[in-house]
Amino acid sequence: MELEFNFFMICSTIIFLLALIILLISQKKSSFFSNYNLPPGPNGLPIFGNIFDLAGSEPYKKIANLKDKFGPILWLKIGYSMDIMVIQTAKSSSELFKNHDVTFCDRNIVDVNLAHNFYQGSMALAPYGNYWRFLRRIWTVEIFVNKRISETTHVRRECMDKMLGWIDKKASLGGGEGIEVTRYVFLASFNTLGKLFLSKDLVADPESEQGSEFFKAMMGIMEWAGVPNISDIFPFLKIFDLQGLRKKMERDMGKAKEIIKKFIEERKKGDENTSNKDLLDVLLNFNGSGKDEPAKLSEHEVTVTILEMFLAGTETTSSSVEWALTELLCHPHAMNKVKLEISQVIGPNKKFEECDIDSLPYMQAVLKESLRLHPPLPFLIPRKAIQDTEFMGYDVPKGTQVLVNAWAIGRDPECWDDDDDDPSEFKPERFLDSNVDVKGQNYELIPFGAGRRMCVGLPLGHRMIHFALGSLLHEFDWELPHNVSPKSINMEESMGITARKKQPLKVIPKRA
Ligand code: HEM
Repeated sequence: MELEFNFFMICSTIIFLLALIILLISQKKSSFFSNYNLPPGPNGLPIFGNIFDLAGSEPYKKIANLKDKFGPILWLKIGYSMDIMVIQTAKSSSELFKNHDVTFCDRNIVDVNLAHNFYQGSMALAPYGNYWRFLRRIWTVEIFVNKRISETTHVRRECMDKMLGWIDKKASLGGGEGIEVTRYVFLASFNTLGKLFLSKDLVADPESEQGSEFFKAMMGIMEWAGVPNISDIFPFLKIFDLQGLRKKMERDMGKAKEIIKKFIEERKKGDENTSNKDLLDVLLNFNGSGKDEPAKLSEHEVTVTILEMFLAGTETTSSSVEWALTELLCHPHAMNKVKLEISQVIGPNKKFEECDIDSLPYMQAVLKESLRLHPPLPFLIPRKAIQDTEFMGYDVPKGTQVLVNAWAIGRDPECWDDDDDDPSEFKPERFLDSNVDVKGQNYELIPFGAGRRMCVGLPLGHRMIHFALGSLLHEFDWELPHNVSPKSINMEESMGITARKKQPLKVIPKRA
């Protein structure tokens, strides 16, 4: 009994002292900031700050609702150490990307990114500077240059055929409950990246729960990267790793790194039969000047680059296609229109090819509209202020995290309710006579971000989503299960590494 009492006393004292320390630190920080004219925001709770304003599975929607009260930019404080500015309108997004892009070009490193020193070698997380510039040059010049992407069309064709074959097999079995189409697109994207980078078929059978070891490890990495971590809110808790996220990340990233190491060794020994130069060859054979760039890429840099491709390029792609198909099923008129366009341009006896995309303006409009309403990264990838700066009349201290609320910006009535259209209505026609595109020039439509740090994989990602959606629509007619109507489809999202559909879309494929 006495032992229990002592334990209780010790714990209570520790908790009390910690709370006191946090309170003192937050007070010291807020008195320091009292000289700053910070943007407006809701009052937070002591110690926790505005943590509950961001809680829940759709934080970007909750935050968007604060726009009417606080205006185009919002200030939040999370815990005692994290200051956040949220960009909520097309006007403030334009101001940020046009006039302050460099100032907000850094990234924040969260705890799980420390596993295996992932952040060192990652382009998405590199601080703005020479090293990031060098990595970005490799990605744009060596990997995502249009010529190289066009030379690998046959690889994506092969992976698409495989996916269509899997779905065909399912379709021939019948059954009224439908398939989770996003799973197939995810596996096809994973295989496409595996083929492009490593010349490997990483997933042979979608029904196998096992999957390849590499696939399993990558799924783990994606899961841990998407879970909010208390260590990031209260950094003094890092050492305890209370949710075990760092440990799980260490484990799965360790496995993935080991496997990639084997791939690299095989390649160096020349054991494999790769007739074409793939992206692993490009990375291994990189010859830099050794002046403002390394002469060679280290094994760590090659490994992290490969991991990053899978992290950045799979769920973003499958989620974009799933949402476009969902919106089409909710809007039968748009579904009929896009199917008609595809059948008129391609005809019945030909496959949908990447080169058809340019001839399909309505399908392009469907994807733009769907990305406007459902950007897979609703806050983009958070940025960080490199220095103290003045932004739209407010003082923004160095180190402030910047969330660009692409979800709210895509629904900003000031841009999107022309002709009395409801900005939250799915209406691809709004893009038919418009030059507005997703390529970073129009700050009201930024599913791939904008400015210096915009998505480097855009040329590939853009093709992949059009190719996947076009192929699915061309090859199959899609029906909802008998107990689901367009109006009853659950449209909620859930935030992980991307904002995916909370309930995956289930849909019945019928050979067209
Ligand atoms: C539909 C597909 C995709 C979407 C919607 C998407 C979206 C985004 C967004 C919003 C950002 C942050 C931009 C910013 O901070 O302004 C980003 C960055 C990035 N994306 Fe993508 N992405 C897609 C596909 C891909 C693919 C296929 C790859 C590579 C295989 C890729 C690699 C990257 C990388 C490396 C960055 C970090 C760039 C940097 O920090 O400089 N993405 N992406």
